[in-house]
Amino acid sequence: TVNGKQVSGDIDPRTLLVQFLRENLRLTGTHVGCDTSQCGACVVHVDGKAMKSCTLLALSCEGASIVTIEGLANGADLHPMQEAFRDNHGLQCGFCTPGMIMTAVDIVNRKGHDLDEVTIREELEGNICRCTGYHNIVKSVDAGAKAMARG
Ligand code: FES
Ligand code: FES
Repeated sequence: TVNGKQVSGDIDPRTLLVQFLRENLRLTGTHVGCDTSQCGACVVHVDGKAMKSCTLLALSCEGASIVTIEGLANGADLHPMQEAFRDNHGLQCGFCTPGMIMTAVDIVNRKGHDLDEVTIREELEGNICRCTGYHNIVKSVDAGAKAMARG
């Protein structure tokens, strides 16, 4: 199930989840930024947990519930974490942003809404940004965490 819809595909068993999302389902918001499982541009939620979709076989996700960046907003209303990145200039080129936001939502789900800077920086270890210097990303995650508490 991807973003609430049941999907299926006839695929090579070696197909990675990120390939299936991008090439079969045309959900191109999930990015590929490396071939070493380091950058985090490919992070999606699998059964509610952030995972790097470049390190999972699509077949291993049979029966799982997956949310990509395209499934985070509620119709025209952005998710509070998306709003926070926009309002706090948490992006420049935007390449890392889908993975950052999916990771950030997972951080809030695991660590709560009151996050200190050290925790945010530690938790973002698996997400690399080549543009921003991270300062505004950290601000965005903090603001997004608080906004998620307000609903
Ligand atoms: Fe998955 Fe870089 S593309 S970690
Ligand atoms: Fe460009 Fe992060 S905004 S890589």
